[in-house]
Amino acid sequence: MCGIVGAVAQRNIVSVLVEGLRRLEYRGYDSCGVAVLSHGEPRRARSVSRVSDLDAQVRDTHLEGFTGIAHTRWATHGAPVTHNAHPIFSRDAVALVHNGIIENYESLREMLRGKGYEFVSQTDTEVIAHLIHSMYRGDLFQTVREAVKQLHGAYAIAVIHKDQPHTVVGARQGSPLVVGVGQGENFLASDALALAGSTDRFAFLEEGDVVEITLDGVKIVDGEGVPAQREVRVVAAYGGAVELGPYRHFMQKEIFEQPRAITDTIPQGDHFDASLFGEGAADVFSGIDSLLILACGTSYYSGLTAKYWLESVAKIPTQVEIASEYRYRESVPNPKALVVVISQSGETADTLAALKHAQSLGHKHTLAVCNVATSAMVRLTELAFLTHAGTEIGVASTKAFTTQLVGLFVLAVTLGKLRGHVDATQEAAYLAQLRHLPAALNSVLALEPQIIAWAEEFARKENALFLGRGLHYPISLEGALKLKEISYIHAEAYPAGELKHGPLALVTEAMPVVTVAPNDALLEKLKSNMQEVRARGGELYVFADADTRIVSEDGIHVIRMPEHYGLLSPILHTVPLQLLAYHTACARGTDVDKPRNLAKSVTVE
Ligand code: F6R
Repeated sequence: MCGIVGAVAQRNIVSVLVEGLRRLEYRGYDSCGVAVLSHGEPRRARSVSRVSDLDAQVRDTHLEGFTGIAHTRWATHGAPVTHNAHPIFSRDAVALVHNGIIENYESLREMLRGKGYEFVSQTDTEVIAHLIHSMYRGDLFQTVREAVKQLHGAYAIAVIHKDQPHTVVGARQGSPLVVGVGQGENFLASDALALAGSTDRFAFLEEGDVVEITLDGVKIVDGEGVPAQREVRVVAAYGGAVELGPYRHFMQKEIFEQPRAITDTIPQGDHFDASLFGEGAADVFSGIDSLLILACGTSYYSGLTAKYWLESVAKIPTQVEIASEYRYRESVPNPKALVVVISQSGETADTLAALKHAQSLGHKHTLAVCNVATSAMVRLTELAFLTHAGTEIGVASTKAFTTQLVGLFVLAVTLGKLRGHVDATQEAAYLAQLRHLPAALNSVLALEPQIIAWAEEFARKENALFLGRGLHYPISLEGALKLKEISYIHAEAYPAGELKHGPLALVTEAMPVVTVAPNDALLEKLKSNMQEVRARGGELYVFADADTRIVSEDGIHVIRMPEHYGLLSPILHTVPLQLLAYHTACARGTDVDKPRNLAKSVTVE
């Protein structure tokens, strides 16, 4: 999704801006650009190719300046063509970059056309640039404060004016923006990761904030226009984490990092304790009667998996909703429910809006299961469980998902204990299982060569069905999502028992049917469902636990999972599905880490 970098320094900052964009590349974009103030004039370079192409352009044209802004754009309004790429100029005086969507841009455009402004792009962003130009009376900070009052929608912006050579002004509402604090130089970015290498000191702006950065100062006012201080925090973990190492893609690296990520996420100590979720969690947990989980995409599937754990281990009613649906439907709030948001980034616009919606309905108790400690979601919720996946670069979520599952399992056991459904023996057994998980995962990763052989077959298909039952149904959903998003093969997942109610009509010899077959209570039922597929000529590709007695035969291909892993089995069964999607995508030659049309952090609605 779109990314912003801005800088004011006493050195040429073009390389800092371009490096910042490079660090944001993983989020997905279709054009990019940079603008600097050079000898009192804004100059820019823009590209509909990669940041490396932009870099070549700025070198060729000797683009240099001490003050500048840069952007990666993920098109919403207007095609990804050069004239829509940011920075957007207004009358060669204002240069502006924008993340988000301005909902009232049409009425603003008419108003500005009436004032003689000519529009050269199809973006909603251009209205902001012209609006600021039209209102400018010598003080950019003041102008932006006034101008943003006229914007409806979500935005993070960074803007420069030719008359203020050492100033960048930013504002945020609904899209993230951070200030990077340096020595005699200051920065803005949509994600602190962009500024790794330039600073490790960050102030996270809040909704409605407008900020001015100069060489030696940072001035912030809040949405009410009141001067505000935002705590400057040292965030050291950003550097270096984005190296690919020996892997072919970040997705592959991140799949193989899962044993480490899970080890880091499993709590230390001998007990599942409410304090793992933050101060006051014990009180909150003892007063709740249900859970409402809100999330999107892969994170939604971790919520669906957690529902099985929460209802079976903690015996607490749990509802899981797609965040973008929840926020727009009339629901019946239950103040005794704990609202749980699950998110890798902690900045997903739909999940954030759903959280705020829940809060506005009177939900007091909120918990974030999140991978980014400094994210908006963690800051907005009462409690938090941080996953320690580390930076996830591949657009397709892998280690973020399995570490979320670990966090949610810890939540289920913790609540089960507090509610008297988990005794000390069970607690010790769950902890032992968690601790053994990384080793079990390594055995699953060792199946890669067998999965590569299957991927060669899958690469020639255009459709696939995924089947799972019970606790593993959400895992089949996740497997289908992984396959479709990176290989572009149409894939759907069904609870296996549902097959005969419609989707069986799709099954022919041409349809591969991936089956998640753990050795659990539903195994015999699942075997019957597999026979239904086989009887219609469907080719089964089965990930079967040891002891399932499912064997390879005509039309049934089996990869044997090392061991059955009880309640934590969904975590193990996720990994071969990730590898299958990954190697199928490689065999088809897609852009695995940056699949078409997708973005890593979805900060627009
Ligand atoms: C799929 C994927 C997405 C995200 C979704 C939510 O592989 O990564 O479906 O899971 O966009 O993102 P977060 O977890 O950052 O809220």
